[in-house]
Amino acid sequence: MTRLTVYPDTDPATVLLDTQDGNRIADTLTEIGVVFERWAAPHALGADADQEAVLAAYDTEVSKLMEEGGYRSVDVARVKPDNPQAGELRKKFLAEHTHDDDEVRFFVDGAGAFYLRKGGKVYRVICERNDLISVPAGTTHWFDTGPAPDFCAIRIFTTPDGWVGHFTGDDIAERFPKFENA
Ligand code: LAC
Ligand code: NI
Repeated sequence: MTRLTVYPDTDPATVLLDTQDGNRIADTLTEIGVVFERWAAPHALGADADQEAVLAAYDTEVSKLMEEGGYRSVDVARVKPDNPQAGELRKKFLAEHTHDDDEVRFFVDGAGAFYLRKGGKVYRVICERNDLISVPAGTTHWFDTGPAPDFCAIRIFTTPDGWVGHFTGDDIAERFPKFENA
């Protein structure tokens, strides 16, 4: 279930806000410059739809977003629980970081949790099918796939080079509730 939970960044035991209301999630994230939207697929996509089919299904929304945001490239990332790199991937995503480009993700399938750190708070956003999140360049964040990563996401970039992570070295992710314990 799509869900936003807000904590003080020093105290994961205190919940400042916990909501599954899409409008409330969008409004709260707007306050920290993050775009959150829900897009409905015009038609059902098979679980094994290839990149071309996935992009075709969301072409209207993706094209509009790219034009408005000045984005220039797009791809589809799919990670399945049996991925031999699952453990390594999870560890990498859990390391707090920033990027020089916006991090724009649309969940075609599956789920994952973004943790955005801003203004002394941590915003955990559990994203699932039909959720779009756009995290502005420079925003401190990490991502949790859970122990069995399972998602398919459209990724939209200004330039894929801008998406290299700058790691903060803070192990804050270890102190916050993990995706699987949400
Ligand atoms: C990334 C995410 C998942 O940079 O934060 O890949
Ligand atoms: Ni990132």
